[in-house]
Amino acid sequence: MIKFEGASVTYQTDAGPHPALSGIDLDIPGGEPCVVIGPTGCGKTTLLFLLAGLVSSSAGSVQIDGDQALRGRRETSLILQQHGLFPWKNALANVTLGLTIRGIPRGERNEQAGELMRELGIWDIRDSYPPQLSGGQKQRVAIARSLVTEPDLLLMDEPFSALDAMTRETLQNLLLRIWKERNFTFLMVSHGIEEAVFLGRRIVVLSERPGHILTVLDNPGMGAESFRLSDEFHRQCIQVRRALEDR
Ligand SMILES: Nc1ncnc2c1ncn2[C@@H]1O[C@H](COP(=O)(O)OP(=O)(O)O)[C@@H](O)[C@H]1O
Ligand SMILES: [Mg+2]
Repeated sequence: MIKFEGASVTYQTDAGPHPALSGIDLDIPGGEPCVVIGPTGCGKTTLLFLLAGLVSSSAGSVQIDGDQALRGRRETSLILQQHGLFPWKNALANVTLGLTIRGIPRGERNEQAGELMRELGIWDIRDSYPPQLSGGQKQRVAIARSLVTEPDLLLMDEPFSALDAMTRETLQNLLLRIWKERNFTFLMVSHGIEEAVFLGRRIVVLSERPGHILTVLDNPGMGAESFRLSDEFHRQCIQVRRALEDR
């Protein structure tokens, strides 16, 4: 579904060209979760923005379902690190925003949002505003908002990194469950080794900037909440750690 071919990004800055990503070759089949991990500043966000069409490649190409990745693809949703909710809209209005923009009538909007919000445990707080919510609740609202338009591709930029460890695991479990039910493709940027191994069917390890792919780890054991307790999980974490240390 996703195909990077020799994709590079160089930002033009006042100080001159600033290479952020170099020669990315990557294929992600439809329905597969992929986690990208790498050191700070290596170009992870740039890679997501390439897929979202928010930056363009200076060399090579990025395709989604055979088309060049462009801004405004309706079936792509993006979740940023800082949730990006509107503080002046309540949780329900934040979740239904994408449907409102598409002109879906209120009854239908609320029905679709209600189903997801119940599943994510945020239906009871639908009338609350983002400043009244905990970090975990805000990210649940952000997830609901991204999924309510039924994307086939979900892009996430370190969505759980600001949360405490327990909340983070709860949300990882929730995301896994929803992915299994709805079967969209997702690409998550993370700097957590355990998060990468828990959620990534494939784990892409990037080098220091300009980021290039050091290795792509296959992780066939992912998919059950109990995976965290297995020996295989720990072996995979060690593999990812080694790949990162080798850089
Ligand atoms: N719009 C931009 N203009 C110039 N440089 C940028 C821009 N966005 C990111 N960079 C730089 O490109 C590099 C990669 O950034 P980024 O993709 O945000 O890395 P990461 O998400 O892995 O921390 C960094 O050195 C960053 O400072
Ligand atoms: Mg980033």
